[in-house]
Amino acid sequence: MVKEEIIKISDGVYWVGVKDWNRRIFDALIPLPQGTTYNAYLAIGEEKTALIDTVNPGFEEEFEEKINVISNLGEIDYVVMNHAEPDHAGSIPYIFKKNRKAILLTTEKGSKMAKIYYNVPSERIRVVRDREKIELGGKTLCFIETPFLHWPETMFTYLMEDKILFPCDFFGAHTALGTYDDDVEEIISLAKRYFGEIMMPFRNMGKRALDKIKDFEIRIIAPSHGPIYRNPERILNAYAKWTAGETREKVIAVYVSMWKSTERMVRTIVDTLISEGLEVSLYDLVTADIGDIAENLVDSTAIVIGTPTVLGGMHPLALFGTYLVKVLRPPLKYGVILSSYGWGAGAVRQVSEILASTKIEVVGVVEINGPPTEKDNEEIIKIGKQLAKKIKGKPR
Ligand code: FEO
Repeated sequence: MVKEEIIKISDGVYWVGVKDWNRRIFDALIPLPQGTTYNAYLAIGEEKTALIDTVNPGFEEEFEEKINVISNLGEIDYVVMNHAEPDHAGSIPYIFKKNRKAILLTTEKGSKMAKIYYNVPSERIRVVRDREKIELGGKTLCFIETPFLHWPETMFTYLMEDKILFPCDFFGAHTALGTYDDDVEEIISLAKRYFGEIMMPFRNMGKRALDKIKDFEIRIIAPSHGPIYRNPERILNAYAKWTAGETREKVIAVYVSMWKSTERMVRTIVDTLISEGLEVSLYDLVTADIGDIAENLVDSTAIVIGTPTVLGGMHPLALFGTYLVKVLRPPLKYGVILSSYGWGAGAVRQVSEILASTKIEVVGVVEINGPPTEKDNEEIIKIGKQLAKKIKGKPR
């Protein structure tokens, strides 16, 4: 490896992360069509050197090689653990085995996790408090507690002189493409998808974190997944909207259909909503990429759920999709449930039970036996129009 392969993002600040081009699934749940990166950074001061986050297990040697081009693994003084999840902290045991002097900087909760997950002894951990600063010599690290972005222990690190924010997962995107935000044309869409998958359940915490950094001068945002933002305004503005739960005149429709009856019902309402001027995204849960669904949940105002009854309840794929909607906690306001059964109903009751624990107001339900009749279609169109009216009349 040569020096030219290491990316300098500012004077004395280097990207030493790795690209995982072939990873296709995260948390055994989230599809990664473009792979991902585990970004880590070296901040070299006049007196001390800090490594900000590490990389996923399996990439330790490549990581070490990169660090050694710029510095020396054995010379690192601090390892900042912004987040304890193994994709960012999983190489700590390797680093600490090779470097006998480095101290881990993390939050109180992070300290407990470092001991449990990575066997870091207490004497090698320094707990940093909110707004605490550590001098590297001409470079100052400032730590900001930002819990639940994405686990309870998470924090941001701000490099004051360089005006670089290292927020770990927050502002991330799962893609191995590009180095900087302007290298990746669809970066905001990828970031939105990531937000929907990872950050949406913690929207309020995200909002609080944005508030905490609102007076910071930020020149670069260097997250731990995806490109580095050297134009931070765009992603900051997008996050302000997403964390606030700002929705558009938009509906997401998800369904499963065994003999096309439920699908016909869903298509009838989708056509109605489109003719009413709404933006609609439609997903068959048999083939859908759940990352696309998560992305569209970020700013949809309503959801249509279509499922047949199978063995007395929802189709298992619809159950999975509806449960996902519940746990991702999107800012949805309204819902419609459509269902066709063959010889026994039950799906609608189950969808209603799941949605009852959300803030979604169910504005219409149609449950029929067999294929939809003309009368059923009229009922669905009526509900579609009512839904459109609600969405357009929603308080802004
Ligand atoms: Fe990228 Fe929550 O780890």
